[in-house]
Amino acid sequence: VSDATPLPIIRPDLRHEEVEADIRAILSSGILTGGPYVARFEAMLAERLGVGHVVATTSATTALHLALAVQGVGPGDEVLVSDFTFPASGNAIVELGAVPVPVDSRPDRFALDLDDARAKVTGRTRAIMAVHPFGQPVDGAGLAALAGDHGLAVVEDAACALGSSSAEGPCGSQFPGAFSFHPRKVVTTGEGGALSFRDGDLADRARRLRSHGGIAGEPGTVGLRFVENGYNYRLAEIPAALGLAQLRRLDEILADRQATARRYEERLADVEGVELRTPPEGDTWSYQSFVVVLADHVDRDALVASLRAEGIETTLGTYAMHAHPAFERFGLRPGDLPNSFRAQQQSLTLPLLPRMDDALVDRVVEALARLVPGAARG
Ligand SMILES: Cc1ncc(COP(=O)(O)O)c(C=O)c1O
Repeated sequence: VSDATPLPIIRPDLRHEEVEADIRAILSSGILTGGPYVARFEAMLAERLGVGHVVATTSATTALHLALAVQGVGPGDEVLVSDFTFPASGNAIVELGAVPVPVDSRPDRFALDLDDARAKVTGRTRAIMAVHPFGQPVDGAGLAALAGDHGLAVVEDAACALGSSSAEGPCGSQFPGAFSFHPRKVVTTGEGGALSFRDGDLADRARRLRSHGGIAGEPGTVGLRFVENGYNYRLAEIPAALGLAQLRRLDEILADRQATARRYEERLADVEGVELRTPPEGDTWSYQSFVVVLADHVDRDALVASLRAEGIETTLGTYAMHAHPAFERFGLRPGDLPNSFRAQQQSLTLPLLPRMDDALVDRVVEALARLVPGAARG
């Protein structure tokens, strides 16, 4: 790749030859949804996570919505939610008429600060939605303790965390966990998601709500019986076939991302003004995104522009949800959650591509070492 070729942030790891036969088989069967590929995709994910049940959905957003709905979250309930996240997390709460209560990040981590969460519990708190940002696991033991102390339902927003794990096991396996298969994720189906469960009754209800709240096969009935008001959140067969092919290679995809991340970590360790977030002992990270934090004197947006001028795409890590107009009515002003706000302002996602050449990693590191000092705020 020459310096003139723009370096994107991520590229899906798709191989035509591994899906062609499946796509042909799906097209000739005429079964485009609700068929064997979705079933196999769900079974393979369940096995990988070590949970009994996986329900494939159209996105992580719809999976998060179902995860809250099946646990009985409804109008007026308060739901604690990681503030440093893609706002889909908060929107799933709002969709149910519930109230998102954003929780700050830890100062040294992107994941939520469980002490801040505990301080925000009220008599109306029903649930907590904990995000594993970029596949960096939250403290599962602390999360379980908080939920246990206050009788809270838990949802893991594992949108970015397929392949991540901590002492509690795979992310998204301890509690109902929502995964995303958007192209910015480690495994992609174009658009798509999944919801994992240990509990079979919750999984059955999620399946029913995924498909209009209907149940089939009741003795003496033709068609369905609609027992509650549901949605259409079903994943289709062709996307499931795409996902299945990548899932079979998941360990290889993860090892490749982890090796590239390690090279970044080694090379960036001495770069002035660039703060690294690295896995604590015992954690495995998916490195859905490789995200650094820039020192406060660095103008991140100016740096993004300078890197772009050199053909290197970068962007912010993710969002401080509370600081966006759509969440203003829940009572916080931009900056009220200072760690999450700083993470939004100073984080930078670097390119992490499949089988990324060492020379490309070095090119990004060299550009950062040269451009960060010049990007100091005036
Ligand atoms: C933490 C988090 N939650 C939820 C989502 C929403 O995922 P989807 O696009 O599959 O709905 C995203 C997407 O980027 C995310 O990063």
